[in-house]
Amino acid sequence: MQNPLDQAARDVLLGNDRGGYTIPTARLYPFQWNWDSMFSAWGYSTFDIVRAWQEVELLFANQWVTGMVPHMVFHEVDPDYFPGPEVWGADQSPPTSGISQPPVAATLIRKIYEADPDTGLLHVKALYPKLVAWHDWWIRERCKDGPVAIVHPWESGRDNCPDWDIGMANVPVDDSDPYIHISRENKRRDLDLLNADQRPVATDYDRYLAILAFGRSVNWDDREMIENGPFLMADPGITFVLLRAFADLIELGRVLGEDTSGLVAQEAKLRDGLDKLWNPETGWFDAYDLRTGAFAGVLGSGAFLSYLAGVSRPALDAHFARSWDKVSYGIPSADPESERFERRRYWRGPTWPVVNSLIAMGLRDMGRKEAEARLRDETARLIEMGGFWEYYDPMDGTPCGGPSFGWTAAVWLTWCGVGRTPLTAEKET
Ligand code: GLC
Repeated sequence: MQNPLDQAARDVLLGNDRGGYTIPTARLYPFQWNWDSMFSAWGYSTFDIVRAWQEVELLFANQWVTGMVPHMVFHEVDPDYFPGPEVWGADQSPPTSGISQPPVAATLIRKIYEADPDTGLLHVKALYPKLVAWHDWWIRERCKDGPVAIVHPWESGRDNCPDWDIGMANVPVDDSDPYIHISRENKRRDLDLLNADQRPVATDYDRYLAILAFGRSVNWDDREMIENGPFLMADPGITFVLLRAFADLIELGRVLGEDTSGLVAQEAKLRDGLDKLWNPETGWFDAYDLRTGAFAGVLGSGAFLSYLAGVSRPALDAHFARSWDKVSYGIPSADPESERFERRRYWRGPTWPVVNSLIAMGLRDMGRKEAEARLRDETARLIEMGGFWEYYDPMDGTPCGGPSFGWTAAVWLTWCGVGRTPLTAEKET
């Protein structure tokens, strides 16, 4: 039976298509974002495999010579978006940001390939060396301490989650930076479009821009960022995403008949670093500040991405059950029992379908079928009640952030909406 939401989801992706790349949502995010694009591609693979590969290939066409795949590609000029290419100051054409984003590419490329191996093989062949170079970049430039370090909260993809509070507190803000003034004078377009209580606060924004000013001043040189940058924290979320991505990349290499021994060694080394993320006092995988050595001491959805990498520990499982049971819909992005929890503020509480889908992928692969089914159902219900939004209040399901959101539509098509009985049909029976 056709579910009208399936076509609605396809329409969201097609409506956000800007010819070769898909924006996350109109106005708020008018460019190509790294992991959003990979989810969009996965979504396209359910109805237009050619378009799926086009999305991936355009993202990788903008890979830096260092191997980094940037978190944003500014394909078009949009003078209203802030912070735009001039604030990043990265020397690339088309302009890009100077940092990366969670490397879900190998995992989703594997899924797109498996949806149609005949069409996919040549694409995988062309993309494989690029994926290897990107993974190599993560290990070489971001994993000196073991787990993945990020140089800007935006690199984590979980921009303002409480994990980064201790690192952000030490970011000095230089009041002479002209861009900080532009931001303070309310050129942040996000605040024109959305409720301020659903977005990062102004003090955070000053610090985000201070890190950009440093990056600009060193031409986004990775070594400078790591050695002298104002922010450096180990991120459980990206570490687990990368660990999983290694497993998928190794499988793609096997399909191509490549020698994957180098990847196997890198994956093993990354896995060895996991203990550094384990906070024995709290019993969860915790971010830590590489400048001070201090644990963040906060539980976020990044810790539960461990399941994506097939990693679990009894104490973490207990926290997972506890924090999930405190809300009604999906996995909250921050611990609902923490005083920092804010149910509608971006990554400080809301549930994100895209993260739910990654956690669920892990739960399913680990054989935790009941948990996966519950998460799938709760995420689908959010979309049925409110449509394809960026994130949702996990207590009452209120849609938040931007509407007609690409990756939420993609997650419906690939995961939580699959085989779902239309709501109207349910009422009739
Ligand atoms: C926000 C999110 C980030 C996402 C981007 C575009 O910055 O935190 O994860 O990629 O929006 O949707």
